[in-house]
Amino acid sequence: MEQNEKTVQQQTSQEAPGEATRRETLVKIGLGSLAAAGCGAAVFGYQFLSPNVLYEPSPIVNLGKLGGFPADSVTSDPASGIYVVHAAEGLYALSATCTHLGCLTAWKPELGIIACPCHGSKFNRRGIKVDGPAPRPLNWLKLWINDDGDLLVDKSTTIPAEHFVRT
Ligand code: FES
Repeated sequence: MEQNEKTVQQQTSQEAPGEATRRETLVKIGLGSLAAAGCGAAVFGYQFLSPNVLYEPSPIVNLGKLGGFPADSVTSDPASGIYVVHAAEGLYALSATCTHLGCLTAWKPELGIIACPCHGSKFNRRGIKVDGPAPRPLNWLKLWINDDGDLLVDKSTTIPAEHFVRT
């Protein structure tokens, strides 16, 4: 009996010096699994804690040089939803969004009015309603000219009507 135990001990200690024992291999697999799980938890934790924010474009629109807006003109920029009017008193910007239910209006040069295609509201070039269900005039937007001579409009800032930027 004692002879058999010695034989077993000799067999286990007879492994080659460079080879990993079964125990060492299992420990390495376990540590690797723990490391992989830790990395996964860190990635998901970071995604969970980072703010889920949708960044909007800036409300400030650069409409280009002042020369692009001749005197006595209404310039429509459907991409930004802005009209720039160059009146005798100066420049101003109007929002092209109808004050009824928010449709995008259109400048009708042949009629000299801004018309809403949805329910027929009409506005003059000062944004004042002349027809239709719109409850208010079009919004006047903050407009300024920067040092480079570019016309800038802040779509998020309305100003009182009849505030002109003199050129
Ligand atoms: S949305 Fe313009 S008239 Fe109704």
